[in-house]
Amino acid sequence: MIIGIAAVDRKNAIGKGGKLPWHYSADMKFFRETTTGHAVVMGRKTWLTIGKPLKDRLNIVLSRDPNIEPQDSLLVLTDVDSVISFNNSLTTDLFVIGGAQIYQAFQPHIEKWIITEVPLTVSGADAFMPEGYLDGFKEVDSKSIGDDLVVKFYERG
Ligand SMILES: NC(=O)c1ccc[n+]([C@@H]2O[C@H](COP(=O)([O-])OP(=O)(O)OC[C@H]3O[C@@H](n4cnc5c(N)ncnc54)[C@H](OP(=O)(O)O)[C@@H]3O)[C@@H](O)[C@H]2O)c1
Repeated sequence: MIIGIAAVDRKNAIGKGGKLPWHYSADMKFFRETTTGHAVVMGRKTWLTIGKPLKDRLNIVLSRDPNIEPQDSLLVLTDVDSVISFNNSLTTDLFVIGGAQIYQAFQPHIEKWIITEVPLTVSGADAFMPEGYLDGFKEVDSKSIGDDLVVKFYERG
């Protein structure tokens, strides 16, 4: 299954200046527990902010430049179709972990969204979720994870 996972402020912002505009350890823990053992796909810019492969996950980086230095647990693919084909051979889920360009590119393929609602309005944010990304989805579950954060789960339907 292809699952989008993001932390989003009240105005759908996800980033500022190439970074996350907040730090919530409860959300980092939730993200780690949810994605561990699965594959994750991210854009090159998000890869640069993380700086190393996320542990115990197959890391796929999407870039039109295939010359990213090879490392263990890192697969660089150059287009969305290659990721989708690769996903068909996976026995785990594939989490789409951002950033904005990657959420946009995978939007038609995403079957579930897992969204952490961040109780902030970040001024000067420059990366946002795609317009209407939850259209055609319905909320099926929600849970509090601490730090005043609520995670909502959405499925198509
Ligand atoms: N709040 C959250 O949950 C969350 C999660 C992740 C990231 N973020 C934030 O999002 C921001 C980064 O987002 P962003 O949109 O600027 O960058 P991004 O999506 O992380 O990466 C963009 C790069 O991905 C590659 N790419 C994009 N579409 C592609 C396609 N169709 N085929 C092949 N390669 C493709 C390109 O790399 P090349 O230039 O190498 O070709 C492009 O420059 C940061 O602020 C980050 O902190 C937030």
